[in-house]
Amino acid sequence: MKRKTHKTRRQIQAQKVTIASKLVQKANSVFNPLETLVHFHEYTSKDCAVIQLDCKRVTNLLPETLTWIFNLLELNMKARYEQSNWGWNKIAKEAELTENNAWYLIASSEGKMIGFSHFRFDIDNAVEVLYCYELQLEALERRKGLGRFMMNCLEAIAANNKMQKVVLTVHKHNPMALSFFYKLNYKMDVTNPPPSDGVDYMILSKQNLQHV
Ligand SMILES: CC(C)(COP(=O)(O)OP(=O)(O)OC[C@H]1O[C@@H](n2cnc3c(N)ncnc32)[C@H](O)[C@@H]1OP(=O)(O)O)[C@@H](O)C(=O)NCCC(=O)NCCS
Repeated sequence: MKRKTHKTRRQIQAQKVTIASKLVQKANSVFNPLETLVHFHEYTSKDCAVIQLDCKRVTNLLPETLTWIFNLLELNMKARYEQSNWGWNKIAKEAELTENNAWYLIASSEGKMIGFSHFRFDIDNAVEVLYCYELQLEALERRKGLGRFMMNCLEAIAANNKMQKVVLTVHKHNPMALSFFYKLNYKMDVTNPPPSDGVDYMILSKQNLQHV
């Protein structure tokens, strides 16, 4: 009689990680993840400004683009980080922003950069995800629909690359960002720490509905 072979939980987990890492590797090997998503190349904002989106790997960014990214992040977030348990560590932040696997979605209007998202294809809790590390707009460019357009673009990039979901971390004391992500239907991720952990951030996510 043939003996049934049952896979252990550890074997199933290892198999999931192998599949996830192949998908992440494949996504990272694409030159421009935005190329085929033509609906996301251009956006006309609520005040009729025409905005272009570009997607590049960190290694293909010009030094002046990186300087603008650091400066905008510092301007938008330094005070919030200082209020949180994380504190503001400029050197560590710059290192994170320039790690080799960082991708950037950059919004420009009339040749001027006005917003960016730093994202990565990654394995999180044994599944393949698009992790949105940052979404930062210049102050004058907010509440015109651009943030929503950029998140929709990241969701399309995730789906196109067979990532299971878009995941992000948000400070609990950033009500503007929380209202924004809740409005876009982001929900508490399974990896969100329990209240007993006492952390001052939340992990939110949105499933890729095309994922089977
Ligand atoms: C958060 C941020 C990316 C949102 O982008 P945005 O282009 O301003 O947002 P949108 O115009 O696409 O807003 C979509 C919806 O989100 C909600 N929303 C956005 N900003 C909001 C705010 N300040 N207060 C309450 N709700 C808000 C609204 O429901 C809005 O729809 P509406 O304008 O039709 O009412 C932008 O405000 C920003 O760059 N903030 C500073 C950096 C930051 O905190 N980033 C998040 C880090 S995790």
